[in-house]
Amino acid sequence: MAGKILSLKCVNCGEIYKPDENLNFCKRCGSILEFQLNYDYISSKLSKDRLKLRDFNMWRYWELIPIEDKSYIISLGEGGTPLIKSRRIGKLMGLKNLYFKLDFLNPTGSFKDRGASAAASRALELKVSAMVGFSTGNAGVAQAAYSAAAGIKSIVFVPKSASLEKIASMMIYGTKVFVVDGTFDDAGRIARKVASRMGWMYNGGVINPIRQEGKKTLAFEVCEQLNWSPPDWYIQSVGVGTAAIGAYKGFRELLFFGWISKIPRIACVQAEGCAPMAKAFKTGSSRIIPVNNPKTIASAIAVGNPAGWPLLRKAVIESDGLIEAVSDEAILDAYKKLAKLEGIYAEPAGAAPLALTVKLRDQGLLDKDDVVVCVISGIGLKDTGVTLKMVGKPINIPVDVDEALKVLSSNRF
Ligand SMILES: Cc1ncc(COP(=O)(O)O)c(C=O)c1O
Ligand SMILES: [Zn+2]
Repeated sequence: MAGKILSLKCVNCGEIYKPDENLNFCKRCGSILEFQLNYDYISSKLSKDRLKLRDFNMWRYWELIPIEDKSYIISLGEGGTPLIKSRRIGKLMGLKNLYFKLDFLNPTGSFKDRGASAAASRALELKVSAMVGFSTGNAGVAQAAYSAAAGIKSIVFVPKSASLEKIASMMIYGTKVFVVDGTFDDAGRIARKVASRMGWMYNGGVINPIRQEGKKTLAFEVCEQLNWSPPDWYIQSVGVGTAAIGAYKGFRELLFFGWISKIPRIACVQAEGCAPMAKAFKTGSSRIIPVNNPKTIASAIAVGNPAGWPLLRKAVIESDGLIEAVSDEAILDAYKKLAKLEGIYAEPAGAAPLALTVKLRDQGLLDKDDVVVCVISGIGLKDTGVTLKMVGKPINIPVDVDEALKVLSSNRF
């Protein structure tokens, strides 16, 4: 389907570039780029009725994802994740319409697969032979899997805070992993230089413009799953901000097509130990003060100097949303509650949106009838270090039924 991409445009100075170049930054001012799509053309090809005939995965919205030739699509079945209504937590909180978008059910266990599927497809379309990523963990795992599927080389730089499960997952897919003795931002600086020296695709969050194009399918799915009636609140955790920026773009596109009647309020959550965007938002500042030494249990969102801030700020302001920080204690409480009361085993960053929901409810910002969607972005299994610290020891018994019954009849059960 040639013709759906118009150009890449600098978000700062507006310079326009041809879309068939492997470009991340504006050659004039150095800012990041975004895809401009030909919506007239796309709307002539896509309709709600046509969607109904397609498989439920993110490529059902393929006209809106800037890959021109379908044969380059690298899919492992990403997207199409369940949106389920809370069974218990909503009632306990007095929220009648609390939903969880189970995006940890993507092929590598996080919502990063949406961006990675789009990025690997674009790498093939641009005929780039390798991808260089930097990641708090999940984006690296997603890049590793999709590069393997695409048959291209993959290198990822991670900070030392990345979990061992995430590092091992990248490696089993054949990615070369460099654990940098520093932060996410340090890893990003090295990755950028390596990518430009080698001429490979630089795959860093919002800095790779295709990533947010994959992420915007989250917005499409949530609205479609609610029968095109958008939620009042769309709540998710933010590191670089790519996913929330993408979701906002997705909601805007649906509004433009007249498929939804309003854009949800986008509420973003950071951890108190690494909350540069929440702090800037609170003070009304357009500049963030980078956090040099992030400290949070939610390692996936430990991003001290997020490149997405200008775009995220715009998304949040324009959607009448907010960015708030929550404590690690609140995140762990949400993490436990999701598992025990809903059967949802998220990683801490994936549980943070529920912690924010609790905070917003306590502040009186949520109405009992509001439709609230929490995006559960990452699976708990890829960060078991946190779980093992919380659950304590299991009960050890000899091979003896009476021992088991004795424990069950005691108050230890
Ligand atoms: C589980 C999880 N949730 C949220 C985020 C934040 O996503 P973004 O960097 O797009 O803001 C990440 C990023 O690594 C993540 O892994
Ligand atoms: Zn520019």
